[in-house]
Amino acid sequence: MATRSWSGKAHVLFNSIRPSLAEDGNRLAARYLNEPETRLFTQMGRYDRSHSLLVAERCADSPRLVRAALLHDCGKLASELPLWFRNLYTALEILAPAWLSRRQESLAEGLPEGSAIASLQLLPGRWPRALFAQSHHGKIGAELLEALGCELEVTYLVRYHQGAVDPVDAELRRFIEADSAF
Ligand SMILES: [Fe+2]
Ligand SMILES: [Fe+2]
Repeated sequence: MATRSWSGKAHVLFNSIRPSLAEDGNRLAARYLNEPETRLFTQMGRYDRSHSLLVAERCADSPRLVRAALLHDCGKLASELPLWFRNLYTALEILAPAWLSRRQESLAEGLPEGSAIASLQLLPGRWPRALFAQSHHGKIGAELLEALGCELEVTYLVRYHQGAVDPVDAELRRFIEADSAF
C-alpha cells in the first residue's frame, strides 16, 4: 500500500472547489480519452476528478500516464460511497494500515479468484461491498476499462496502482508515486 499524506489530500480538496475544474477535466478528456472513457471520467465526483487531474499534471510528458491518471480510480464508482466514508478510509490507511489490511483479508476470504466485479456482487450488504470496492478499486477499474477495449498498458497501470512500489517497473513506480502525492 502506498503512503498517503494529509497535505496531498488537502491539495486535492482545495483544487476540487475551483470553478474551472470541470473545464480542465473536459479539455484533458477530449484530448486523451475516447467517448466511453470520458463517460466514466465524468461520472466521478469532483474530488476524484480533482485528484486525477493533479496526478495527470504530474505525468504530463507521457500520454499513456495521463490516460491512466484520468481513469485509474474509476473503480471507486462501484463503491457508491459518500465522501465522508472515503475520508475515513483514507484516515485508516494512514493511521491503522495493519488493522485495515486484516479487515480486507477477512472480507476477501472465501471469495472466488478471478473477477473483482463478480466477487463484489457476491458480498452481502452495502458496507462490505463498499469496503471491498474501495480496497480493490484498481482491479475493478481495470475490468471496467478492459470491457471498453482500453489498451493493455493502461489497464495494467490501473490494475496495479494500489500495490507496493515495484523497483523494477519504472513506469508503474512513477505512476504510484504521482498517485500517492495526492
Ligand atoms: Fe486509487
Ligand atoms: Fe488515485
